[in-house]
Amino acid sequence: MHDQAKRLRERMQQNSSSRQTRLVTVTSGKGGVGKSNFSLNFALGLREKGHKAILFDVDLGLANLDVLMGITPKRHLLHLIDQEATVWDIMETGPGNLEFIAGGSGFTQILQLDNHKLDILFQKLEPLHGYADTIIFDTGAGISQESLRFMLSSDEVILVTTPEPPAITDAYAVIKMIHSRNPQTKVRLVINRATSDREGQATADKLSMVAKRFLDMEISKLGYVMDDDHVTKAVKQQRPYFLAFPQSQASKSIRNLVAAYLGSAGAAGSGSPGGLKGFFKKLKGFIP
Ligand SMILES: Nc1ncnc2c1ncn2[C@@H]1O[C@H](COP(=O)(O)OP(=O)(O)O)[C@@H](O)[C@H]1O
Ligand SMILES: [Mg+2]
Repeated sequence: MHDQAKRLRERMQQNSSSRQTRLVTVTSGKGGVGKSNFSLNFALGLREKGHKAILFDVDLGLANLDVLMGITPKRHLLHLIDQEATVWDIMETGPGNLEFIAGGSGFTQILQLDNHKLDILFQKLEPLHGYADTIIFDTGAGISQESLRFMLSSDEVILVTTPEPPAITDAYAVIKMIHSRNPQTKVRLVINRATSDREGQATADKLSMVAKRFLDMEISKLGYVMDDDHVTKAVKQQRPYFLAFPQSQASKSIRNLVAAYLGSAGAAGSGSPGGLKGFFKKLKGFIP
């Protein structure tokens, strides 16, 4: 109740057109490369800098952001359709005051809704536009039509991979898939679990070079996150590492990524975000 009142106040004070909401889909080729940990801690890092990031869990059936935060969501996205609930009712507040929306059974289920229900869902989510600076969708691994639709509808895709060859190969497969549908899609790389700065850089360089050479597609590098035992420790404690171990290597990496993101978001050439409205419009266009 307290959270809701606070949010309401914030919304009243805020000129809703003042924020350009950016929609970012976090994905990967291979599973288990660290998408959820990245999404969660990156969102917290953005908030530390006063940038309002909201996290959406849309992993299909394997939603685990709540577990990483040690919270049990009472409601999820699909409650918006069946009940009188507003988006503020289904929003959970996690550690570090991170605002979070659980996806239910993920985007497969969302994309299977009929147009009428989808419209209700979209309408009810609309107040988020202008409220958040960035909405981060944490998705499952990317080689499915559903996740592709999410990616193509977002303002940008953050593609996470580790430096291991199978993960890189699968990341490249995602790039190819995106390229075949819309080569203009903005894709940025995050290398997770780098064992050195050099490895982080080199992995990103290699992947973007291959995309340039074989697809003539520009894939930019957001940065890398160091491989760090503090991540596993934090996962076991069900606390985000950015809060549990703020001085760890992994948290320092997140600060670098946040700086890179904030330095470029809205910068010349990146175009103005389509935000939630743009996202819904595109997403609906994909639904037969
Ligand atoms: N930077 C890191 N350093 C060390 N281990 C990591 C790192 N990132 C992720 N991990 C490990 O990988 C596991 C899977 O991460 P998770 O974020 O759940 O992946 P995904 O969402 O891609 O399936 C974590 O439980 C953790 O043990
Ligand atoms: Mg995950």
